[in-house]
Amino acid sequence: MTGRPAVLFVCLGNICRSPLAEGALRAACEAEGVDVEIDSAGTSDWHIGKPPDPRAIATARAHGVDISGLRARQVEVEDFRRFTHIYALDSKNLAALKSLAPTDSKAHLGLLLDTVPGREGKAVIDPYFGDDGIFGATWRAVSAAADALVARLRDQRG
Ligand code: 4NP
Repeated sequence: MTGRPAVLFVCLGNICRSPLAEGALRAACEAEGVDVEIDSAGTSDWHIGKPPDPRAIATARAHGVDISGLRARQVEVEDFRRFTHIYALDSKNLAALKSLAPTDSKAHLGLLLDTVPGREGKAVIDPYFGDDGIFGATWRAVSAAADALVARLRDQRG
């Protein structure tokens, strides 16, 4: 790959799963000294401009990661030209991204957990209507993916 990799995580609201994925990968890249652009977005416009859900902020904070400064935005066609890798948190959002992708998309588009051996094809379950405990499972899933991604990005470097 030439140029700096750029990774976008996409869920439905951009207030629970994808901000956690963004925070987990940011932390992993900082720890490993990997230089990558990271962002997240939602396929819906429901929470544009809002900070992450308080339960997501608390879960990240419990793992030493501050996502409170993030603000939700909706995915846009230009994202397919700006990002080298776009990962959907579940198959519904992957389908929405596929229908939005322009014909000149440069991005690799896939399901986030396809990066994690043994969890291919699986969704990061929507925790929004679940109890607080489900956010711990969300964090574990996005952290496993962040670890897999940082290893790939490190290998692509230089
Ligand atoms: P996310 O979670 O897609 O992980 O950000 C959701 C956030 C909000 C809603 C659904 C899922 N909602 O229905 O408003």
